[in-house]
Amino acid sequence: MSPEDKKRIAAEAAIDYVRPDSVIGVGTGSTVNHFIDLVAEKMGDRLRAAVSSSEASSERLRGHGIDVIDLNDVGKLDIYVDGADESNSRLQLIKGGGGALTREKIVAAASAEFVCIADDSKLVEVLGVFPLPVEVIPMARELVVRELRALGADPRLREGMITDNGNQILDLHGLKITDALDLETRINQITGVVCVGLFAHRPADVLLLGTDNGVVTFTAD
Ligand code: A5P
Repeated sequence: MSPEDKKRIAAEAAIDYVRPDSVIGVGTGSTVNHFIDLVAEKMGDRLRAAVSSSEASSERLRGHGIDVIDLNDVGKLDIYVDGADESNSRLQLIKGGGGALTREKIVAAASAEFVCIADDSKLVEVLGVFPLPVEVIPMARELVVRELRALGADPRLREGMITDNGNQILDLHGLKITDALDLETRINQITGVVCVGLFAHRPADVLLLGTDNGVVTFTAD
């Protein structure tokens, strides 16, 4: 099965977690694009609205006639569906390959259940082969770079990337993340950091992984 087919079957499996008449949280990326297309096709007229984590996903949702509303106008969301760049077996994630990490973290924090959808290449033993994205306030970039180097990371500016929030992204190479909770806390404490794409304090609750043998479901311990 191709990686794209694996993404699609994982996205399709997530539809079972969506309740009719609910407001759903929707992430960003190629796997989520499958989810948006499929949820619109199968449940579009039975969805109340969506809260989206990026301009790109909002546009796709609206293109299918799904209302996109402000997070401030709703209470807790039942469900957040999003992809990941890496997941370990504890469902701690690296996210932000598409640069939408801050809004993704906000919508995940506002949701009762986080359903992560991915193809099986994303499941790893130790997080960190995929460079860890950190969104920074531009004027603080070099200050943050020095602090990140002191943590043992090799931060590299993502050239040409400005986030939906008007900030820059540093991608951290060379990490072997054995204590994701601790690293997330340390990076969050650096002044000038807006958000780190490590989802350890708020991991996924369910991981739906597309494999050659169909979708395998993992749940957090
Ligand atoms: C977007 O900022 C990311 O967090 C995505 O969720 C992640 O990059 C997964 O993207 P794909 O589904 O395209 O692999």
